[in-house]
Amino acid sequence: METKISEITDGIFRLSTFVPGIAPPAGFTFNQFLVLGHRPLLFHTGLRKMFPVIHSAVSRLIPPERLRWIAFGHFEADECGAMNEWLAVAPQAQVAHGRTGCTVSLNDMTDRAPRVLGDGETIDLGGGKRVRYLDTPHTPHGWDAGVLHEESTGTLLCGDLFTQLGDGPALTEGDIVGPAIAAEDLFSYSSLNPSMGTTIRGLAGLLPRTLALMHGPSFSGDGGAALRTLADDYDRRTSAADKIKAA
Ligand SMILES: [Fe+2]
Ligand SMILES: [Fe+2]
Repeated sequence: METKISEITDGIFRLSTFVPGIAPPAGFTFNQFLVLGHRPLLFHTGLRKMFPVIHSAVSRLIPPERLRWIAFGHFEADECGAMNEWLAVAPQAQVAHGRTGCTVSLNDMTDRAPRVLGDGETIDLGGGKRVRYLDTPHTPHGWDAGVLHEESTGTLLCGDLFTQLGDGPALTEGDIVGPAIAAEDLFSYSSLNPSMGTTIRGLAGLLPRTLALMHGPSFSGDGGAALRTLADDYDRRTSAADKIKAA
C-alpha cells in the first residue's frame, strides 16, 4: 500500500492512500492533511490498521513527534481510528474537536483529554497558519460533524463532503460536484436532513480557494461556487424525499 504525498497549497500536504478493493473497479482514496506551522496539525488520522503506512508518510515531512494537534471531521474509523496511536508517538499532541464530539465520544475514547472547540473557535498553529473549527451537525453525517478552515491559504478541510470514487490527481480545477453526486447515489452516505443545504451554503461564505477532500482530489478554484452547487443538490434530494413521504 503506497501513500502519495503532495503539497496542495502553501504548507498543506495531502497524504493519499488508494484502496482498489473498495467500490471496484474505480477504487477509493483515504486522504489525510498535514498543516505545517510551529505546531503542526494532522487532519484525519487514517484507519487504525493503516497507522504504519500513514506514520511513515508523515515521517517523510516532519518528525511525527512534533505533531501538536490531531483533528478530524467526525468520530469514525477512517477519520480517527488511529488517534491513540498518534497520541502515543507524539507526546505534545492533543485531539481537538467540537463540543458534541468530545461529549458523545472523545472524552471517553481518547487516551489523553481532548481540547473542546466551540463553533467558530480558532487554533493558532504558528508560522502564519490558523484554523477555525465550524460545527456542521449531521453534514454529511455524524451528529458531531465539523470542518476546519485554514485561514491564511483559504483551505477548507471538508472531510467527507464531495466524496468521490477513483484515484484522481492530487489537485484538480475540474468539476468535483458531478463525481460527488454520483458517489452519493452509489453509497447514500449522507444523513439527509432539512438543514443540510443551509449548512453547506454557510461554508460557501468562507470563500475557500482550496477544498481538501478526504475521499477524492483536492480542488483549487471557486470553492464557494462548488459548495453552493452541492448544497442545491442536497436541497433537491431532501425535497424529493419529502415528496415521496407526502405521496
Ligand atoms: Fe465519514
Ligand atoms: Fe471519511
